[in-house]
Amino acid sequence: MASRILVCLLLAVAIANVECNQEGDVLNSWKTQLVDPNNVLQSWDPTLFNPCTWFHVTCNNNNSVTRVDLGNAGLSGPLIPELGLLANLQYLEVFGNNITGTIPTELGNLTNLVSLDLYHNKLTGPIPVSLGNLVSLLFMRLHGNKLTGTIPTSIINLITTGRLRILNVSYNLLSGTVHRNNSTGFRITQVIQDPKAPAM
Ligand SMILES: *[C@@H]1O[C@H](CO)[C@@H](O)[C@H](O)[C@H]1NC(C)=O
Ligand SMILES: *[C@@H]1O[C@H](CO)[C@@H](O)[C@H](O)[C@H]1NC(C)=O
Ligand SMILES: *[C@@H]1O[C@H](CO)[C@@H](O)[C@H](O)[C@H]1NC(C)=O
Ligand SMILES: *[C@@H]1O[C@H](CO)[C@@H](O)[C@H](O)[C@H]1NC(C)=O
Ligand SMILES: *[C@@H]1O[C@H](CO)[C@@H](O)[C@H](O)[C@H]1NC(C)=O
Ligand SMILES: *[C@@H]1O[C@H](CO)[C@@H](O)[C@H](O)[C@H]1NC(C)=O
Repeated sequence: MASRILVCLLLAVAIANVECNQEGDVLNSWKTQLVDPNNVLQSWDPTLFNPCTWFHVTCNNNNSVTRVDLGNAGLSGPLIPELGLLANLQYLEVFGNNITGTIPTELGNLTNLVSLDLYHNKLTGPIPVSLGNLVSLLFMRLHGNKLTGTIPTSIINLITTGRLRILNVSYNLLSGTVHRNNSTGFRITQVIQDPKAPAM
């Protein structure tokens, strides 16, 4: 570990703009907190210089992570705040697992995110207000968890000021209703709220 960091530092001195695998470190640190009975993360080798050859990880031409595809992978454990450091992430696909804990507010830093699919897990707590910063987001599917509170206004605003097309938050423990105007762009967005949510 120490020698890898040293090599990385030397490289960074030699070549401008070397990232020292910060993104690999983020994903590896997540891996260490996940229970992975099917060994889907077996290829996540932290000694490689970047995570771009790992299964379920996709990078752009700059070796920066753009996709994490871990749907229906049998994983349990939390989402970690450091995931917010994956600056070029476009697809975070973690649906259909046993992910517990809260949605880190740091995910609101992922301003290139196009799709946030955390549905069918065991997430608790509120939907972070910070997710209203996800100006590139087209799909936010959080249904089938145990999320509480109301949908933050910041996220509803993404429907008109951002690009949000699908917002599915049904089958959670949310309260409140969402009011939609069909002439303001709301009609192209499906907002799917709890089937039995009490009216505000
Ligand atoms: C890669 O990095 C260069 C220099 O920082 C930048 O100009 C370019 O847009 C980046 N490409 C991608 C695909 O992110
Ligand atoms: C969640 O964990 C339970 C108990 O270990 C297991 O039976 C179930 O298949 C898991 N679900 C998923 C989607 O991995
Ligand atoms: C990431 O998000 C957190 C919480 O929303 C914030 O405090 C922090 O400053 C952000 N970090 C960066 C690098 O933008
Ligand atoms: C929204 O989530 C519910 C509950 O899982 C599901 O039945 C429904 O098909 C979803 N709708 C869309 C458009 O994804
Ligand atoms: C919907 O339309 C009503 C009446 O025209 C207006 O008062 C309200 O602010 C609109 N709501 C949104 C979310 O645009
Ligand atoms: C908007 O809703 C009103 C009232 O329900 C309806 O009369 C109208 O046809 C709708 N317009 C569009 C463009 O969907």
